Amino acid sequence: MSAFKLTKHVTGYTFGDPVETGIIQGEKTYGHQELPLEVHVEKGYGSISFSLTKHDRVYGLGPNLGGINKRGRQYESYCTDDPLHHEDKTTLYGAHNFFILEDDDVATGFFIDFPSRIRYDVGFTDMDLFTIDIHGEDFTLYIIEGDSLKDIVVNFHAVIGKPYMPPKWGLGFFQSRWGYETEEDIRKVYETFREKDIPLDGIYLDLDYMDDFKDFSLSGDRFPNFRTLVSDLKEDGVRLIPIIDAGVKMEEGYDVYDEGVAGNHFVKDESGKPYVAAVWPGKVHFPDFLQESTRAWFGDKYQFLTDLGIEGVWNDMNEPAIFYDETSLSEGIEAAIEAKGQNLGVMPFFALRDKFMNIGNRDEYYRRFYHEIDGKRYSNEEVHNLYGFQMTVSASEGLRKHLGKRHVLISRASSIGMHRYSGIWTGDNSSWWSHLDLNVKMLPALNMSGFYYVGADTGGFGGNASGELLTRWMQFSIFTPLLRNHSAIGCAFQEPYAFGEKVTAYNRHLIKARYSILPYLYSEMLKSYEDGSMMFTPLSFEYFGEEALQAEDQLLLGEELMIAPVVKSNARGRYVYLPEDMALVSFREDEVRLSAAKAGVTYLSYGMEDLKFFLRRNRMMPYIAPGRSVKDLSMKVIHLVGYLETEAFYTLYDDDGTSYGYEDGMVYKTEFSARRDEDGDIKVSVRNENPNIEKVIFTLMDGDENSITKEVQV
Ligand code: GLC
Repeated sequence: MSAFKLTKHVTGYTFGDPVETGIIQGEKTYGHQELPLEVHVEKGYGSISFSLTKHDRVYGLGPNLGGINKRGRQYESYCTDDPLHHEDKTTLYGAHNFFILEDDDVATGFFIDFPSRIRYDVGFTDMDLFTIDIHGEDFTLYIIEGDSLKDIVVNFHAVIGKPYMPPKWGLGFFQSRWGYETEEDIRKVYETFREKDIPLDGIYLDLDYMDDFKDFSLSGDRFPNFRTLVSDLKEDGVRLIPIIDAGVKMEEGYDVYDEGVAGNHFVKDESGKPYVAAVWPGKVHFPDFLQESTRAWFGDKYQFLTDLGIEGVWNDMNEPAIFYDETSLSEGIEAAIEAKGQNLGVMPFFALRDKFMNIGNRDEYYRRFYHEIDGKRYSNEEVHNLYGFQMTVSASEGLRKHLGKRHVLISRASSIGMHRYSGIWTGDNSSWWSHLDLNVKMLPALNMSGFYYVGADTGGFGGNASGELLTRWMQFSIFTPLLRNHSAIGCAFQEPYAFGEKVTAYNRHLIKARYSILPYLYSEMLKSYEDGSMMFTPLSFEYFGEEALQAEDQLLLGEELMIAPVVKSNARGRYVYLPEDMALVSFREDEVRLSAAKAGVTYLSYGMEDLKFFLRRNRMMPYIAPGRSVKDLSMKVIHLVGYLETEAFYTLYDDDGTSYGYEDGMVYKTEFSARRDEDGDIKVSVRNENPNIEKVIFTLMDGDENSITKEVQV
């Protein structure tokens, strides 16, 4: 083992000869550092275990099932495509090996830099034991210290690099569906949003826009006027965001395939020939994104889309998902032929059935193809979790090069490190109430991993959403930086207007509210970019006590808000835990009302027509008038709503929304302050750097619900 320091707070311990994953950045200072815990390493295997007291809690592990406190379950870091996120699933699409272990006195962060499978048993098999099994002997363990949970996260973010920032329009509302088949379908969606007065910034294009599921192609039948469609909608602030899949269709004469073969860009099987798997287009090859030259080649392909006016993309099936591979399908077919005409007993029948039933994403597939890194061959299994990450690096670099301004990019598979290049959506959830609840719990863990531009398929991807579920989900999702309603082909339609006038009105109100608070969300993202802080924080990261620990369906947003969504059906409200006195905000387009809410557990009545959240004491939040899309939003008049006891400040971060200037600190900061002097008089002031702001209207309430309004011209 060799040990090194990365920063004052981050120490690394390297075992064996690990693959360079590119996740951790910074200068290593080697020296003698004592390993403060026992790490067991033998041939092909590493393990760590912690004994847990009943007070210990575990946070993190990225996009996983389970609670905010990860105790009591098993997890796996191995990117997989499994569309049914049932309770007993141990792994989803991401592999995020950062977690914090906390008891009542100390908290320590850990990151395991290892690109293959890691299993975590967090007090599942033995309630008092947390065991980690690393499927390899070459890895680096990082220990991250800090004064608090939030501080540990900031110290971790300092060594993984700055997160991806979408353009401002990326925070608008997006409609999506696998099953909008034609140009007319897309225009119809756009027109209906406009007709129903529901703001919209983009429509995601699923597989149907492609010709035969070929990446970087267009269906001439279904989308004959693609370029015009893109520009017509963009003129009105609505962008199209096409999907790109990892697998490249095998078809001679198809440029991407031909170039990939000629350029030696595809992953190889044991014999050195391009590996054949099957995904949407039938047989495909996978680009070897772990090679720089392949990333550059594939990244340039995105120019096909940028040339058509596209400014955003979603990368899918990049775990990579495999429906079947040649060997397994042939084995199945042979077994079926052999069984033909026989009277199969139940066990042989099950054996035959299993040849087909579990034919997707089998573990052995990932042992059958190979990557090359610096001239060395690795099976995909050995470096599995880098694949989607590196596909996204390729897309990010290509889009940046060919667009010359910021783009929207989300990926399904992810590892920490990829947060520098894109956001993520949380994959194929279902229209289940439990998945709305899961969405709430997952958010802080994603922020811990460095991902801020995140969101779930609002309304649920699989299954049929009800108007009630969609509305309740929207009441939560309007706070998530990525806000997309997406559903699967064959399921009931779930656009905001798909459930009759009443639900349409609820959703219109919510989406407009989203546009009103968009400058606040954008500002909070820019702050997280600057200082590495989390945007969504569990209550237990900020407050002490059992109630804060248990309040897993409430989150803090920035330093200002607490959100407490309804995540159950048939509810007229919910119980909320207030760790301190706050103001309840009832947000409507025509009126934003504040009322006092006392610390403790309280019942919040919360109807479908409402948008309610809490504002912390001595804090203010900005909002503006809504618009049809981000393009329409004006920063001229900023409203600030505050709960003022003594003094309150808010600094609004903003920028041009499209350039990379923020990387060099080109961010406007506007400082708002409100102070109550000894006589009870309130003074407000604004220090402004933002050329777009002209007027600020403060509405401030105190604990007795006395309210005043003050205007400042800037
Ligand atoms: C995958 C994606 C989903 C998409 C579908 C068809 O299941 O996760 O979002 O709609 O593929 O492309």
